[in-house]
Amino acid sequence: MITTGKVTKYFGNTEALKNISFEINQGEIVGFLGPNGAGKTTLMRILTCYLPPTSGKASVCGYDIIKNSLRVRKNVGYLPETPPLYPNMTVYEYLKFAAQLKDIPTQQIRIHIDRVLEECHLTKVQRKTIQTLSKGYKQRVGIAQAIIHNPAVLILDEPTSGLDPVQILQVRNLIKGLEQKRTVILSTHILSEIEQMAQRVIIIKSGRIITDRLLKDLLTSSLEKEKYILRIQGQRQTVEKALQAIENLSLINFCSESLILHQVEVEIPPTKGIKNFLIKNILQSGCQMEEIRASKPSLEEVFLKLISEEER
Ligand SMILES: Nc1ncnc2c1ncn2[C@@H]1O[C@H](COP(=O)(O)OP(=O)(O)O)[C@@H](O)[C@H]1O
Ligand SMILES: [Mg+2]
Repeated sequence: MITTGKVTKYFGNTEALKNISFEINQGEIVGFLGPNGAGKTTLMRILTCYLPPTSGKASVCGYDIIKNSLRVRKNVGYLPETPPLYPNMTVYEYLKFAAQLKDIPTQQIRIHIDRVLEECHLTKVQRKTIQTLSKGYKQRVGIAQAIIHNPAVLILDEPTSGLDPVQILQVRNLIKGLEQKRTVILSTHILSEIEQMAQRVIIIKSGRIITDRLLKDLLTSSLEKEKYILRIQGQRQTVEKALQAIENLSLINFCSESLILHQVEVEIPPTKGIKNFLIKNILQSGCQMEEIRASKPSLEEVFLKLISEEER
């Protein structure tokens, strides 16, 4: 659906993107994650034909972004970082204007406007001028213009930035609804946003892809050690000794709930039967394992680890 091959972009001497290559399939929801200045917006502008790459290739829906840019634009809906809204227009007028820009035949404009008004929950405010709307509503108008021509691909640049928590939730739900029918790329510098909306994450740093993985794989396998929370019954010293005796185990946290009940956080390389192995070792020391559960790393931890590995 979307492919890039070694896309590189320079602004003067600034290398904004370097050898960006990936493939996104139909129906995928992909998050571009990276700090400010990473190159997310530049990459999106290249994919939407607003900016040519310095070198490299990219295609959307099988159309080359340089040779067939008109075709690409027809298939892509784009919500820029700051949507180009006209404050004096009503929502309806603006969407009509957007429909004309996208070359939608006059007799079909009405149908498309009604569809996006409904999809973006804007029907009630269609006669209001854009300047009177809240930021959350404005963002929904921005999304409405992006999908007015019912594109197969949707590219959203930081769609929830600057919104309050309630508006964020509304926009997220709206985007989730749209995703069912389309291939979506969205960018954010907020980690939790990716967890909420995307299935796959492409982490970009200083113009380079440092990770491209399914979220579920990233969370389970990118830390070479696994964390476990244990609740162990026994004398504190005995428990500590028993844990210290286990090879490759690092103690992260030890917290006593009572004289003989302790909650312990440990890290250990994930191997087959690791849980039974831990239980057996604790039992052998004369203590009792009350509870054992794996503690999933947060995306935050994974992200920080990847970034720091990159820097090393
Ligand atoms: N039009 C431009 N002219 C010069 N430099 C630019 C331009 N657009 C972006 N850059 C630079 O390219 C890099 C990537 O920026 P950008 O794509 O906006 O990152 P992000 O969206 O991830 O915050 C930054 O160093 C930025 O300063
Ligand atoms: Mg940006």
